Amino acid sequence: MNHVLDQAQAGMPRHLGIIMDGNGRWAKKRGLPRTAGHTAGAANFKKITRYCASIGIEYLTIYAFSTENWKRPSDEIEALLKIFQQYLEEALQDFLGENIRVNFIGDVSVFPENLQSLFARTEAVSADKTGMVLNIAMNYGGRAELTHAVHLLAEQVQRGALLPEQITEDVISQYLYTAGQPDPDLVLRPSGEFRISNFLLWQSAYTEYIIMDKLWPDFTTRDLDSALQEFSNRNRRFGGI
Ligand code: IPE
Ligand code: IPE
Ligand code: MG
Repeated sequence: MNHVLDQAQAGMPRHLGIIMDGNGRWAKKRGLPRTAGHTAGAANFKKITRYCASIGIEYLTIYAFSTENWKRPSDEIEALLKIFQQYLEEALQDFLGENIRVNFIGDVSVFPENLQSLFARTEAVSADKTGMVLNIAMNYGGRAELTHAVHLLAEQVQRGALLPEQITEDVISQYLYTAGQPDPDLVLRPSGEFRISNFLLWQSAYTEYIIMDKLWPDFTTRDLDSALQEFSNRNRRFGGI
């Protein structure tokens, strides 16, 4: 905890979260189908991820697909799955040369086999990298994550491996997809929406939020710099004075 505070006081987030939002509106503004916005968003994801690694962000968590995004029309979902596949096939080549460790967070068991195997291959290829940890949230929801953790804990208690009073905040954190990682210091939400949309609910108890009035495909490294600048001026008290 002290380490997290030290880093936060040094002005740079150790763990940055980004809710990639606004792809659909970006496309609509240009008279394009929403899927064109997702393609542009994926390209930007690549650029911003590289930049984060280059400036020393230790953990980057990107919200790519939520547990609620299945409500979208099937043609949009199909297009998104295709983009994820294309992106990961390319990324697999890129990651061979980059010092980024990829980790998928969320229940990925619901995705088609080919995508699941791409997720697994990407994690395997990057497993021994020592640079930035990139969490890609896929079929991720903060409530689903907590429900999953509660199921695992209940099983442990049922087997007699854990006593209810042994379930502390630290133990719960260890049962989340982000086990072993620091909580996010800063979450950015482009697209101007003032809401959390089920992202890192437990982990963001004391996270700073910056909402930016830019749609994700238009979000630049300069926008990131200005958010980091704003973050460095925030006074984080964690309930203290
Ligand atoms: C974010 O952009 C991408 C995903 C949620 C997959 P949106 O598709 O939500 O774009 P808007 O919010 O409709 O503009
Ligand atoms: C949040 O964006 C989820 C992702 C970016 C993956 P949404 O567009 O789904 O969120 P709402 O519906 O505006 O809350
Ligand atoms: Mg949206």
